[in-house]
Amino acid sequence: MLSRVLLAFSFVVASLATSLPADLPPFNSSLFKDLNVTRGFTYHYYASPADAGKPTLVFLHGFPSSFYDWRHQVSFFQDKGYGLVVPDMLGYGGTAKPLDPEAYAPSLITKDIIDILDAEGLQQSVLIGHDWGAKIASRLANYFPQYFSSYAFLAVGYIAPDAFALPYPEQNNLSRAVLGYENFGYWDFFSSDGADQIILDNFDSFFDIWFPKDTVLTIKDLAPLGAINSFLRNGRRVTPGDFVTPEERTVQMELLRQEGLAAPLNWYKIMTTSIESDDDQGIPSENAVLKKPVFFGAALRDYIAIAATYIAATLQNSNDTLTIQQYDSGHWVMLEVKDKVNTDLLQWIEGLNY
Ligand SMILES: *[C@@H]1O[C@H](CO)[C@@H](O)[C@H](O)[C@H]1NC(C)=O
Ligand SMILES: *[C@@H]1O[C@H](CO)[C@@H](O)[C@H](O)[C@H]1NC(C)=O
Ligand SMILES: *[C@@H]1O[C@H](CO)[C@@H](O)[C@H](O)[C@H]1NC(C)=O
Ligand SMILES: *[C@@H]1O[C@H](CO)[C@@H](O)[C@H](O)[C@H]1NC(C)=O
Repeated sequence: MLSRVLLAFSFVVASLATSLPADLPPFNSSLFKDLNVTRGFTYHYYASPADAGKPTLVFLHGFPSSFYDWRHQVSFFQDKGYGLVVPDMLGYGGTAKPLDPEAYAPSLITKDIIDILDAEGLQQSVLIGHDWGAKIASRLANYFPQYFSSYAFLAVGYIAPDAFALPYPEQNNLSRAVLGYENFGYWDFFSSDGADQIILDNFDSFFDIWFPKDTVLTIKDLAPLGAINSFLRNGRRVTPGDFVTPEERTVQMELLRQEGLAAPLNWYKIMTTSIESDDDQGIPSENAVLKKPVFFGAALRDYIAIAATYIAATLQNSNDTLTIQQYDSGHWVMLEVKDKVNTDLLQWIEGLNY
């Protein structure tokens, strides 16, 4: 009986694994690579070489994602001859998925990304980050500015070295006082034991609220302390945004489901413990202010990563040209307002002296 159950179970797993299409246009399947970085983790990344005279753009995704977040940018910039490096970040897709939160310290992840750039022989890339990818872009600017010509931040702006100095419980109290809700209250659930399984058991609910049509819903059903736990446990459904097609949603889900959520949730565990704030003590203070051109694409209907906060922080910490574009969009600007983001980034990149 047990072996029949196991057999049935392994069949389900096998059929999930094969439900991903072999080709995911615009990604050219022969341009994916794997690199064993210095600390012994394998990174899976897309690398499309630049035409002569064009820079390489490095795209860093956030939670709960993969290289596939950047499909619209890859299709747009690849055709124009820009080089592209698009990794699966630690914990995701084809990259290693360590379960120890300490492995996710930004000083370590930034070095992994530099190992990739060294392997590709890249020295003056344009760095573009969204969500937690914007945090890693911030830390790359802090630790390794010599590798980049310029920085673009999407939805989440530049995150200064002292941004997370306030302990997490106090941060919740502060946001409740200022906004009326804890915009990062869901980090508490994401850091708790068993959260990965609750998410997987309610995966459609999770994707609905993570990619919603009406982002106002996130103020009650996602962000505050306790909200997403209850939303998921009750199997609630809301209308997802049409900026992710049903086919794309299936791909996103399968890329994330393959090895579960335990590893990706470490991106939050480092925030609710002192791992991030301790690690950030090592940032060279002379690199806290950005001395290269910066682009910030703010998402005006993002009620978790609040545009005004990041506009202020990015303004305060830029000491070169700063371009700010404000989008009538939720968090997923590179999907929801993809054409505008692509043309704005192109115009900004063309104006750089690379
Ligand atoms: C994919 O990349 C390979 C290796 O550079 C190249 O030979 C092939 O033509 C590319 N395929 C497409 C569809 O562009
Ligand atoms: C990666 O490199 C380390 C040494 O840095 C080695 O111990 C490990 O076996 C390598 N892993 C893979 C998958 O090749
Ligand atoms: C946060 O606010 C609650 C309720 O007002 C209070 O009990 C708690 O002590 C505060 N926590 C911190 C760390 O300030
Ligand atoms: C900003 O740039 C100006 C002019 O290059 C320079 O004098 C100043 O020291 C810089 N400020 C910081 C904080 O780097």
